[in-house]
Amino acid sequence: MSTEATETRSYPPSADLAASAHIDAARYDAMYAASVSDPDAFWGEHGKRIDWIKPYTKVSNASFQPGNVDIKWFEDGTLNVSANCIDRHLETRGDQTAIIFEPDDPNEAAQHITYTQLHGAVCRMANILEELGVRKGDRVVIYLPMIPEAAYAMLACARIGAIHSIVFAGFSSDALGARVNGSDAKVVITADTAPRGGRKTALKSNVDAALLHCKDSVKCLVVKRTGDQTTWIDGRDFDYNEMALEASDYCKPAEMNAEDPLFILYTSGSTGQPKGVVHCSGGYLVYASMTHQYTFDYHEGDVFWCTADVGWVTGHSYIVYGPLANGATTVMFEGVPTYPDASRFWQVCEKHKVNQFYTAPTALRALMGQGDSFVESCDLSSLRILGTVGEPINPEAWNWYNDVVGGGRCPIVDTWWQTETGGHMMTPLPGAHATKPGSAMKPFFGVHPVVLDPQSGEVIEGNDVEGVLCIDQSWPAQMRTVWGDHERFEKTYFSDYKGYYFAGDGCRRDADGDYWITGRVDDVINVSGHRMGTAEVESALVAHASVAEAAVVGYPHDIKGQGIYCYVTLMNNAEPSDELRKELRTWVRTEIGPIASPDLIQWAPGLPKTRSGKIMRRILRKIAENDYGALGDTSTLAEPAVVDDLIENRMNKV
Ligand code: WT7
Repeated sequence: MSTEATETRSYPPSADLAASAHIDAARYDAMYAASVSDPDAFWGEHGKRIDWIKPYTKVSNASFQPGNVDIKWFEDGTLNVSANCIDRHLETRGDQTAIIFEPDDPNEAAQHITYTQLHGAVCRMANILEELGVRKGDRVVIYLPMIPEAAYAMLACARIGAIHSIVFAGFSSDALGARVNGSDAKVVITADTAPRGGRKTALKSNVDAALLHCKDSVKCLVVKRTGDQTTWIDGRDFDYNEMALEASDYCKPAEMNAEDPLFILYTSGSTGQPKGVVHCSGGYLVYASMTHQYTFDYHEGDVFWCTADVGWVTGHSYIVYGPLANGATTVMFEGVPTYPDASRFWQVCEKHKVNQFYTAPTALRALMGQGDSFVESCDLSSLRILGTVGEPINPEAWNWYNDVVGGGRCPIVDTWWQTETGGHMMTPLPGAHATKPGSAMKPFFGVHPVVLDPQSGEVIEGNDVEGVLCIDQSWPAQMRTVWGDHERFEKTYFSDYKGYYFAGDGCRRDADGDYWITGRVDDVINVSGHRMGTAEVESALVAHASVAEAAVVGYPHDIKGQGIYCYVTLMNNAEPSDELRKELRTWVRTEIGPIASPDLIQWAPGLPKTRSGKIMRRILRKIAENDYGALGDTSTLAEPAVVDDLIENRMNKV
């Protein structure tokens, strides 16, 4: 969804909030200036917000030069991330709730897990992993629903120095298998079945299917969620609940280097298959905890709820690592916003007296469409700060969030960031900045955004300008590499605009110097806040026997932000039919997962190509967007006539 430049309103923070917030306008200006003029002095100081086993003496050591991209923070320091998220709180807040687990079914009791209980559970899980042969540096794939054991598993890996790689439970067994192999994982942690929105996903059987394509030595640790029957292979499958009864509730945290990987998280890019984004221990934790504190103006005792799934980076940084490093109470919600009905989010806010609520625009758009009564029936007086993430938020949804959910009292932090950035890169800070509907406003401390001309690559100075968004110096939570493929890391992020980190987004800096993200400028689409490479959907489609060729683009979708529009050229022997459309849809769901389900499939006798055979996606995007006036120059096409056919047979939006 594009954010139009028509919204000019601005909402300054209330005097009360500015006075009580960690950061007010003057403090932001001073800290920001210090953070970009002398990053090492700034981060040298703020790095101390977490506990180090051996303190660092070096702060940053980063080069963005292609051929030599190398990023290190706090490189001679050692720490343990799980000790920072748990052990260091035990003395002062052992009995405080660390995690509130809210199950899918509102009639099932919520669980309040204290820091002391969290410590026990994480240690037990860590000991179980060691028993299964997991050692420092080994990879563990986590394929779990949103249950406390997902957090235990992450922290247990961190405790023993294993590297976790979470695969969103909505991904198919094929996608799971590829990620197990890609990271060469020793163990997959899953659950029997996972309730979500009143339905169940058969996670364990997905793992069974995935492991058919993995090494025989891969083990599977199964958490009991529903008690549903699953198949069982002795010697490969292990019962977590049974083992936890025997496991010791003490496990010494391993001493890790700041630059030891904490996790791998696969994410989509404009080309090829998803890449494993690598985040390391020290810088990531400093940044996740600091952004959590300042962006949400988190104060001691607050109840914080991020509705994301731990399968995405948002869940890593703002359900688990950031909040727990800060000793917060964090809500883990297993369900969906519309089950049993569209008041579920707001009921959970009321029930657990949530102070900060962080969600995605797509959820807001869906809920907005259900009417205000679902919100108004709930007591939302505990809410203080609202947040959004994942895609540009359209002003209508922003205003609804502000007026109806926030009652006009709660600043909205529109946080722009990425899997690659580890934490917030641009966002208003609630006590410091006025907010504008649809604007990510200001860079976070230490982040230096630049707007470049997409053609020349020159920096565009001044305000009221638009271009591609790059970052020109490193920040502590920056991804370090692509797992197993450093060259791909350099090529993807540092080669288009030399000397900069290229985010893949376009942006506008308005007349006041505030930033607006305008969306991806590459072949990545954002469907309901889920990031997807059009190339991935294409390669799934062409893997079907009836498909000769496919091109996939995004198109504006009222709820999802973008929908998936597929142009499919069939094999000579295949007949176009609605049945085949349905089959292809199911096919893609099985290859990738339900989130990649095509919305529209158009039969294309031919695709517009240049004489050298390159598909002209610009044209396909315009047709999908219903914007024929802007097709641009089609004279370089090999067969200009195919465009007329595509326009004539364009699918109507559903
Ligand atoms: C892409 C990153 C990191 C959180 C979840 C998504 C888009 C993210 C915003 C925002 C406009 C946004 C960008 C970005 N995006 N937040 N506040 N406003 N666009 O992480 O899956 O790595 O996707 O999401 O296009 O590049 P991700």
